[in-house]
Amino acid sequence: MAYVAAAVFAAVSLTALFAGGEACDNVPSMTWTAACKETNKWEQLCQQTLQTATDSAEVTVYALIATKLAKSRYEETLAELDSMLGAGNLPGAERLAIDSCKENYSAALSKMAGVVDHMSACDFSLASKEYIDAEAGVRSCQEGLQPYQFLPLFAKVSADHDLTLVAYLLGAIIVGR
Ligand SMILES: *[C@@H]1O[C@H](CO)[C@@H](O)[C@H](O)[C@H]1NC(C)=O
Repeated sequence: MAYVAAAVFAAVSLTALFAGGEACDNVPSMTWTAACKETNKWEQLCQQTLQTATDSAEVTVYALIATKLAKSRYEETLAELDSMLGAGNLPGAERLAIDSCKENYSAALSKMAGVVDHMSACDFSLASKEYIDAEAGVRSCQEGLQPYQFLPLFAKVSADHDLTLVAYLLGAIIVGR
């Protein structure tokens, strides 16, 4: 529950931050429900992510809300990876998979930080590649964890992957896929 509350709080404070509205040239404004329609099979997760956003806004606002949330989820997952690695009782193969996840997540985190920095400055030239790289990193971790689906970590990484796709598909309304 604390986890859900924290996510909702993060979304609310981001909404407050952007309440003045963005002003990037050539970026469409739409309702968040319309924006979420563009995320296809992730529409429901998109709606959960944006439900506290203002009714209509520049799409940049929505992409940034989802991207910042994904970024903070990655940070939580990285902390979990660190604590698993620190426990010292991991079987070797599992440790290798978790080590790889740590590398993949560190890379993905810096890509998503790049999206936030660039998009906040209305620079859209790198966002598509940054999203794609972040998605590839999280997916690579998820694939490495296939033998360990019993771990709560696997569900966490799968949820991170879904949220990454929501952010990517919202960003794609502006920058293309
Ligand atoms: C994930 O990390 C592993 C281990 O460092 C690496 O071999 C792999 O290329 C990474 N995947 C991606 C998509 O960066």
